[in-house]
Amino acid sequence: MRDLFQEQLRALRARSLDRHLREISSAQGPEVQIAGRRLINFSSNDYLGLANDSRLREAAVAAIGEFGVGAGASRLVSGTQSLHVRLENALARWKGTEAALCFSSGYAAALGTIPALVARNDIILLDKLCHASLIDGAKLSGAILRVFPHNHLGKLENHLEWAQRQHAGKRVLILTESVFSMDGDRAPLRELIELKKHFGALLFLDEAHAVGVIGPNGRGLAAAENLDEDVDVQMGTLSKALGASGGYICGSRDLIEWLINPQRRRPPSWPRR
Ligand SMILES: Cc1ncc(COP(=O)(O)O)c(C=O)c1O
Repeated sequence: MRDLFQEQLRALRARSLDRHLREISSAQGPEVQIAGRRLINFSSNDYLGLANDSRLREAAVAAIGEFGVGAGASRLVSGTQSLHVRLENALARWKGTEAALCFSSGYAAALGTIPALVARNDIILLDKLCHASLIDGAKLSGAILRVFPHNHLGKLENHLEWAQRQHAGKRVLILTESVFSMDGDRAPLRELIELKKHFGALLFLDEAHAVGVIGPNGRGLAAAENLDEDVDVQMGTLSKALGASGGYICGSRDLIEWLINPQRRRPPSWPRR
């Protein structure tokens, strides 16, 4: 087995594809300490400098003082503490949605949510530059997956027509980001919403790189364009501009309740469109 890994690593190194974890020996900030040198950090997502903000540090210490460091069980069993509930209420208020649900990371939010929304024989249409968490969530759902070129509305419309023709009655879920992690450009949200309404699809929007920096009170692109009511599922992470760790889904009360009660087979009363 050891030989196998050595071989694989040698092959990676030969193609200069090997990656390394860089140790930072200071707190996050515009400057960080690496290997004894003070360096300017251009590659962080701590957009607002909150990761080491004294107010957040003090709040975290106070929370640990009151609640300790572990939830003791999964949320469903006996691990839902007042802090979770306060955070979810605050997120829903901030995003202007009926409800919110927190996860341990943005990745977990995508993996926990997408397979609850669609199942085998449903359709997922995914922008080519979507983050790995959306891709993994889509694969895990078992739905039929079609990728459209980045922000290409024409190709997306073709896929929607195909789904309507070939998979009539199946649920169609469009997955995209609002500000793209790879290129930093934005999704054409208004046009996406027109398309999803026309074809009766659902829209899942990952606002990971938009919250904190775009829109009123940093609420993201959907709020900036006054379209939040038309986005079915708003996802985000607390690990970038919000300076902490964790992920969330914001949406209707029914959506959040469904995410707590997903079933492999959709109940007959669950509407397809
Ligand atoms: C667009 C996007 N979505 C989701 C995530 C996942 O968030 P987290 O780091 O909280 O798992 C990231 C993180 O890199 C991201 O860039």
